[in-house]
Amino acid sequence: MADDTILISTTGHVATITINRPDKLNALNEPTRAGIVALLDRFENDPEIRVVILTGAGEKAFIAGADIGEFEGRTPVAQFRVMNSPDTNAFEAADRFPKPIIAAVNGFCLGGGCELAMACDIRIASDKAKFGQPEVNLGLLPGGGGTQRLPRFVGLGNAFKLLYTGDMVTADEALRLGLVSEVVPAADLMTRVNALAAAIASKSPVALRYIKEALRASMRAPMDEGLRLERTLFGLVFASEDKVEGVAAFLQKRKPEFKGA
Ligand code: COA
Repeated sequence: MADDTILISTTGHVATITINRPDKLNALNEPTRAGIVALLDRFENDPEIRVVILTGAGEKAFIAGADIGEFEGRTPVAQFRVMNSPDTNAFEAADRFPKPIIAAVNGFCLGGGCELAMACDIRIASDKAKFGQPEVNLGLLPGGGGTQRLPRFVGLGNAFKLLYTGDMVTADEALRLGLVSEVVPAADLMTRVNALAAAIASKSPVALRYIKEALRASMRAPMDEGLRLERTLFGLVFASEDKVEGVAAFLQKRKPEFKGA
């Protein structure tokens, strides 16, 4: 990166993107959004990277939303561009990223932060995390997918409550609502997420890719279309070298070594 507002690290086949603006609670400004998009593009095209983790620097925040400082004085046209340009639409970039992406939610997960976490495949939260869509308090509504993704996770009534009030919920409440998959003690968050990412990275990248494509379709396509896509993708994956390896390893009672081909 040109600056240090996003940090990256790589362990094995897992890359970690850390939003690094802790003094602003990792709020998403335009360069940060562009940085996320650029990194996801890079990792998409790097066969060595099989899983991505997204987290925030410091102990306080995952991402406390869009950078509110940027709202002041920005023209509607400029705001429209930032939200819609493929170069800065980090939410779409995360959603469309064809490899598994896990949000390690280490603190405030608000507004655009919550929306970015929801655009990831899996959310694991620290017990200190807090979730919310407080846009209504600014006279706004969510613009990174909150009105569309939140009800799919928590149901329409809970989404209305969260969006109308702007109230925050605890990690345990987020777990109860179905917004996160697991809550772990803050000190154990990255250990847990790294282990999960490594476990996923040991699977067939071909299978993972098409599992993701089929699951994404389940959010959008009518059931019949989704089922047809699933069967088509099954046929495609059936032709992969990874399938030959996976089946052979099972029959030979050994661990498979998937190559992503
Ligand atoms: N955009 C820009 N700056 C932000 C920010 C955001 N979304 N969230 C926090 N910050 C900044 C604060 O302005 C402050 O900066 P400063 O030290 O230069 O004044 C710094 O981060 C620390 O935040 P602070 O408010 O002092 O921490 P707190 O613990 O008292 O409160 C929050 C934490 C998350 C409750 C509070 O920061 C907040 O409500 N943030 C806005 C959340 C929001 O509305 N997000 C949706 C935006 S559309």
